[in-house]
Amino acid sequence: MTTAELAAPPAEERAQAEYLLEARKIEVTYDRVAIAIQGVSLGVPAGGRVALLGTNGAGKSTTLRALTGFLPSEEIEVTDGEVIYEGESLVGLRPHEIARRGIALVPEREKVFMTLKVMENLLSTPVGSNRASRAEGLERVFHFFPQLERKTGLIAGLLSGGERQMLALGMALMTNPRLLLIDEMSLGLAPVIVEELVGVLSAINRELGVGLLVVEQNAEVALGLADHAYIIESGRIVLEGTPQRLREHEDVQEFYLGRRASRDGEAASYQDVKQYRRKRRWYG
Ligand SMILES: Nc1ncnc2c1ncn2[C@@H]1O[C@H](COP(=O)(O)OP(=O)(O)OP(=O)(O)O)[C@@H](O)[C@H]1O
Ligand SMILES: [Mg+2]
Repeated sequence: MTTAELAAPPAEERAQAEYLLEARKIEVTYDRVAIAIQGVSLGVPAGGRVALLGTNGAGKSTTLRALTGFLPSEEIEVTDGEVIYEGESLVGLRPHEIARRGIALVPEREKVFMTLKVMENLLSTPVGSNRASRAEGLERVFHFFPQLERKTGLIAGLLSGGERQMLALGMALMTNPRLLLIDEMSLGLAPVIVEELVGVLSAINRELGVGLLVVEQNAEVALGLADHAYIIESGRIVLEGTPQRLREHEDVQEFYLGRRASRDGEAASYQDVKQYRRKRRWYG
């Protein structure tokens, strides 16, 4: 398989893709001058499982935030392209307006109110687009996270990292979303906890038909959970495809899965040359 095939899915595959949420060539600028991401296009079908994989500073959080809206006080805006949800543009809408449409963000930081109890955190969320009742919301949350039900009276700051992530996911579920956008769920958590959370996310996707867009630095999590994945580097999508296709790609193996490609005659001291080649392969 050639890189060109990987980078650009066949035209018929693109044409058939029906996205619930789609970013079309978006550019996001901080402080009016600093362009953080450029020409980023990606889509999440209804009930789909999509991953955005990239290293530190690649533009993953910026992309998610562009899809979920900015506050008026923030010096950040979508300066080019479109974000389309159910055929309607989301650009310029505020976070609460986007959340009301059924898109729930689990942010990278400050995902729960640390000084409030677990139950207070869950009840702090607005009801979703279909006006689901609080009781239904809590039932849904405790079905997927029974562990939280036993800790409802505990201050969130006393939860373990894994439980805090469960609470953040639970708060998103309270809104009865059609789409869950999750920023680095696996960060700082033990592999066994991450595995458990991935299992719960799969169940949420399967049982409720909730679409997932997970942002990850952890390739195993991203490729294990998704049925379509994008790789972002320096603010641009450099590769996309099914997890299987991406796993077969030499650069993904080397740079994201930590498996050194065995290319005859190439010594480690040729790192620079290799970096250059890698860029050429992805951008060329
Ligand atoms: N509020 C901000 N003001 C100015 N620049 C910002 C701001 N937030 C992020 N950036 C810049 O935008 C670029 C992308 O950052 P972003 O947080 O989207 O990356 P990321 O892929 O989520 O990284 P990480 O894995 O570390 O979370 C970086 O160069 C970063 O410095
Ligand atoms: Mg981030």
